[in-house]
This record gives sequence, C-alpha cells and structure tokens, in this order.
Amino acid sequence: MAIEKTFSIIKPNSTLDNNIGNVIAMFEKNGLRIAAAKFTHLSKEKAEGFYIEHKERPFFGELVDFMTSGPVMLMSLEGENAVMKNREIMGATNPAEAADGTVRKLYAKSIGENSVHGSDSAASAERELAYFFEKSDLVDRF
Ligand code: CMP
Repeated sequence: MAIEKTFSIIKPNSTLDNNIGNVIAMFEKNGLRIAAAKFTHLSKEKAEGFYIEHKERPFFGELVDFMTSGPVMLMSLEGENAVMKNREIMGATNPAEAADGTVRKLYAKSIGENSVHGSDSAASAERELAYFFEKSDLVDRF
C-alpha cells in the first residue's frame, strides 16, 4: 500500500468545542501522522476559493459563513492509503448517516457543521494542500 498525503480541516464547531485533540488522536490512533499544520481563521475570500466547486449550490453562503465563524486547523496527514483512511475515520458527510465511532458521529452537529473536511481523492489532496501550504511546509513523516 502506498504512503500518501491528504488534506484535512478541523472545522469551527470542533475547534470551538475544544475537540482538536480528540480529533487528532483519532487520526494518530489510526496510523495517520501530521505532516503540516496551521491554526488560522479563514478569510471570506480564502473560504470561497476553497469551496469554489460548490459556488452554485444553495448552501454555499451558509458554508462560507460557517467556515469563517471561528478558527480552523489545517493539516496535511500522511500514511498508508491516507485519502481513503481519513474518509473512513471522518465518517459520512451527513452525521445522521455516519458510522459509530467516526469523527462526525461523535462530534458533528449537522451536515453543515460536520467537524472535519477531508480530500475525496489523491488529485483533490494535491490541489487542496497546494491551496493552503507551501511545498516547503509539507514534511515527510515516513
Ligand atoms: P466538506 O467535506 O467540507 O465539503 C463541502 C461541504 O459542504 C461539506 O463538507 C458539508 O459540510 C457542506 N454541505 C454539503 N451539503 C450540505 C447541505 N445540504 N447543507 C449545508 N452544508 C452542506
């Protein structure tokens, strides 16, 4: 199995609920290592650019408002099969459909305030990491 990097955001509902450590512990217990991290407050422009593919969706305004409502933790996670592994750890986008023991089942409030973002493919991971990090920020952990 190949070592991959993926992109993760711990969203404002989780930072405000003081669950950053709990979420990171779930990544680490499942074999992912933090390979870059930035704790920041997204600007409206940065959040809109990140979610540009959803621009025409009815929830776009709500999504940008939420993502700029508090601090976020931006991370590169590295490990075997990291993109898919991260998606398993997060659980389904809608917490009502998330499996027991996943981040979203444990900590998400709604489909909007769903605690974490994770890249959906290796190509998305590369694009999303480059949107927030310099190449020199990305450490190799394996
Ligand atoms: P995320 O993985 O960050 O990617 C896009 C986000 O849009 C998604 O998580 C959800 O938080 C959000 N989203 C998707 N569908 C809806 C919806 N119906 N209403 C509000 N937010 C949504």
